[in-house]
Amino acid sequence: MTRSTLKRCVMASTLAMGAFALALNLLTTSAGARTLGQGQQPASAPATGDKPAEQVFKNIKALKGLPESQLIPVMNMMSSALGVQCIQCHVKNGDVWEMDKDDKKAKQTARKMIEMTINVNKASFEGHPDVSCFTCHRGHERPVAVAPLPRELPPPANAGPRPPAAMVNPQDVLAKYEQAVGSKEAVEKIKTRVLKGTHVAPNGMSLQFAINVSLPDKIATVVTTPQGTFSQAMASDSGWIKNSREQRAMNDSELARARSLIWALNPLPLKAPYPRMLFAGSEKIGDREVVRLRMNTPDKKRAVLYFDKETGLLVRRVLSTETPIGVDPEQIDFEDYRDVDGVKIAHTIKVSYLDLSFSSTRKITEMKNNVALEDSAFSAPPKQ
Ligand code: HEC
Ligand code: HEC
Repeated sequence: MTRSTLKRCVMASTLAMGAFALALNLLTTSAGARTLGQGQQPASAPATGDKPAEQVFKNIKALKGLPESQLIPVMNMMSSALGVQCIQCHVKNGDVWEMDKDDKKAKQTARKMIEMTINVNKASFEGHPDVSCFTCHRGHERPVAVAPLPRELPPPANAGPRPPAAMVNPQDVLAKYEQAVGSKEAVEKIKTRVLKGTHVAPNGMSLQFAINVSLPDKIATVVTTPQGTFSQAMASDSGWIKNSREQRAMNDSELARARSLIWALNPLPLKAPYPRMLFAGSEKIGDREVVRLRMNTPDKKRAVLYFDKETGLLVRRVLSTETPIGVDPEQIDFEDYRDVDGVKIAHTIKVSYLDLSFSSTRKITEMKNNVALEDSAFSAPPKQ
């Protein structure tokens, strides 16, 4: 990994999901190795101008052709599948990571495993990443090959096939959702949202945030940290980031996360980003019965939306990005819906990635709608 790339990775890591900037050092837990590795960007659709990984990193053999932006998400997928940290496979010299070095046996084995996984998917699953590291490893370094004894009693042979799940019309689910959220008039009246709350990282660290949203596509956020404030903003398709170390334009992944945040704070126009929704079964989340709808997003991710059967409200969204060695998931859980100006909005939003530094639980403590917001607040960083 070149110096500039490493620097870029570290800089990327100072931004947490959506808009919640978390300095690398803020996230440092007892596990030092986590700071670099898990502070990276989650997989996103290959950013425009995304180069093949081998042109950006020094020693890519098994993952040739992987979009550069997916390399770190893939590393996080491998780490979580094996239940290890970056240090398991990579060399750290003092404070400096030497990711390109092949000194560790585990890295050499992992490379063979990547090749094996890609080949299995090619040979047996039409190139779909149906087999991933997790398929075998399940969070352990060494997969378990032998089924445990004593064996569980199988169901009686005469139980017959399970009855098929009752079909649900996706349009009915959407209609119920729209009704549950609030009247069309109330929804359409909302032009801006101004909110405050707390942002809790997986290590328990809590920070205050303030967010201004101007619908449909502008957002500005400020997170207060002991190291100073982290601000970022986006107006339609460009954005900026500013913290105590730097000020710069957002990259494509950051723009995608900012859009995702606007969506999470305003998940009303469901139809627009999701052209074709299909019924995908029912299940339980906690003690709630939910209905799943699935679809492909325009940026080629798979999305599954989970609606509470009883209340009709959206309780979860999972977005999946395909990589050659498996699917990289991103999950948002919506809880604590409250009525603000006739529109129900989740006041607890939990975002989960395999990359822990983008994972967080946000609790909204204050929300005002239709506060007048200057356009300039979204288009240029404040002068010091
Ligand atoms: C299970 C072993 C394993 C773990 C854990 C792992 N990596 Fe890797 N990493 C590899 C392998 C293997 C390669 C080389 C891939 C190839 O040959 O295409 C690699 C390559 C890299 C590279 C490219 C280096 C270069 O310049 O060639 C970076 C950067 C990297 N890893 C970062 C990380 C980070 C950050 C983490 C922790 C989130 C991590 N890795 C966890 C096995 C691992
Ligand atoms: C088809 C099942 C399967 C898949 C898929 C798989 N592995 Fe493995 N892996 C194994 C088995 C089995 C072993 C143990 C081999 C042994 O005991 O010698 C192993 C061992 C390893 C080891 C060495 C662990 C140790 O402590 O010796 C590493 C590292 C590893 N795998 C990484 C990966 C990575 C990274 C991926 C995904 C790119 C992956 N594996 C995908 C089955 C799999």
